[in-house]
Amino acid sequence: MLSFILNQRVVRTDERPGMVLLEYIRGVACLSGTKEACREGECGACTVLVGAKQADGSMTYKACASCLLPIGDVDGCHIVTVEGLIGEPLTLVQRLIVENNASQCGFCTPGIVLSLTGFCLGSPELSYEDAVNALDGNICRCTGYVSIRNAARALCEKLAQLDTDPSERLGSLITLGVVPEYFRAIPDQLARLHAAPRPAGKDAVLVAGGTDLFVQRPEQLLESDLCFLSDRCDLAYVHADGDVLRVGGAVTIEDFRRSAAVQRYFPAVAHDLLRHSSTLLRNKATLTGNIVNASPIGDAAIILLALDARLVIVNAAGARREVPLSKFFLGYKKTDLACGELVSEIVIPLLPAGARYHFEKVSNRATLDIAAVNTALRLTTGPDGAITDIRLSVGGVAPVPMLIEGLEVFYGRKPDSATAEAIGQAVEAAAKPIDDIRGAAAYKKLLAGRLVRAHFTAPAAAAEAI
Ligand SMILES: Cc1cc2nc3c(=O)[nH]c(=O)nc-3n(C[C@H](O)[C@H](O)[C@H](O)COP(=O)(O)OP(=O)(O)OC[C@H]3O[C@@H](n4cnc5c(N)ncnc54)[C@H](O)[C@@H]3O)c2cc1C
Ligand code: FES
Ligand code: FES
Repeated sequence: MLSFILNQRVVRTDERPGMVLLEYIRGVACLSGTKEACREGECGACTVLVGAKQADGSMTYKACASCLLPIGDVDGCHIVTVEGLIGEPLTLVQRLIVENNASQCGFCTPGIVLSLTGFCLGSPELSYEDAVNALDGNICRCTGYVSIRNAARALCEKLAQLDTDPSERLGSLITLGVVPEYFRAIPDQLARLHAAPRPAGKDAVLVAGGTDLFVQRPEQLLESDLCFLSDRCDLAYVHADGDVLRVGGAVTIEDFRRSAAVQRYFPAVAHDLLRHSSTLLRNKATLTGNIVNASPIGDAAIILLALDARLVIVNAAGARREVPLSKFFLGYKKTDLACGELVSEIVIPLLPAGARYHFEKVSNRATLDIAAVNTALRLTTGPDGAITDIRLSVGGVAPVPMLIEGLEVFYGRKPDSATAEAIGQAVEAAAKPIDDIRGAAAYKKLLAGRLVRAHFTAPAAAAEAI
């Protein structure tokens, strides 16, 4: 039996763990404020808050797309839908949406309210820029984003005096009317649920964030035995260790981005990963899911290839092996991962002295979209400015995320426009894209060459990572 708190009500249910939360909220709990549209994580109409109790007793709340979130993964959590945001008569976010004319037909509005409330509860910074980023997964088709942004700006002005530590913020948010008073009692109520990870069979499907799995085969997962990576608190770490960064296999992309170690050692990567999907998805999606899914255009895979990452893989018996990411992809959607094996850690070398990193991505939309072509570069130069090492990855031009080989011929040259041109031409020659929904093969080949040249003409962005 699964148990969680839905708004103020304790739920105990025998529904299948693979039922998506949206289905439960609308179909079983009969709460219709959470809207259903794309069912593929693309629109944000189904946004809810997922609150989880931390080891220190505090709560973290994250906005998530309930259409891709299995109820087995919210066992022991607090789920907040728009019906759970009961104010006097409106919450602060709802009131500012009204005052700024930020709702017209209203279909997207519950999702927008939940995303902005999640921002208030969880964002380390309460800046206008971060409020807008928090809305990157919510599409509105009729109001126009100017008035929604005006509501977000007004909200940030009201929040200006709040504590920067999200774990200390709840009391002030209740006083300000952002969340209702009953939130205060939730940690104790969750403790009384006694939810514990359930044992999974050896053939159980491993679900990380579920943002690939629940798009690809939701019907099959409804019937399957599932094992949730979010239960593996021991794999939820990011820390520097000598000259590498160690990232546990259960770390979500958003937690990775926001971790102190990534902010310190890879600030440009933290910024570039804003281009991966949306906040709603990154709050669940993991780096390991992006890698194991083996899409030729996975953003994390492309970035980590250029950074020379390695994977630590463990099998069911606990035996451990380490594989360079460049050797992990064997063919289209084929990886060097045997049945029952788990990617338990990603090891990322810190940038060596003289190295810089840069990422480029072209997609139809700036956010919430998978790339047509993406590419990352780690370029190292010696004291004389000549190249001593190049790692260049390109996505969307081969069956796997591609590491460009043979670039040693450029060692000793300056990373000037002539070198950029020659490397761009080498990439165009190596690229073997196919025509698909994201673009014609000829376009992607040309694009790959252009983006690679852009690595060399974007010094400001590159210097950020040094
Ligand atoms: C609307 C939308 C937009 C998207 N935008 C982007 C984008 O911009 N860029 C991009 O790169 N991707 C994008 N994606 C794809 C997806 O979000 C990412 O690939 C994501 O990182 C997958 O991670 P996950 O944790 O959700 O994987 P899951 O779906 O949980 O798992 C994917 C696969 O990996 C396996 N797996 C997961 N973790 C492990 C592990 N530790 N060990 C062994 N196996 C494991 C699972 O069993 C499964 O087979 C998008 C998806 C959607 C729906
Ligand atoms: S219904 Fe569109 S994101 Fe869930
Ligand atoms: S108000 Fe109509 S879709 Fe946003």
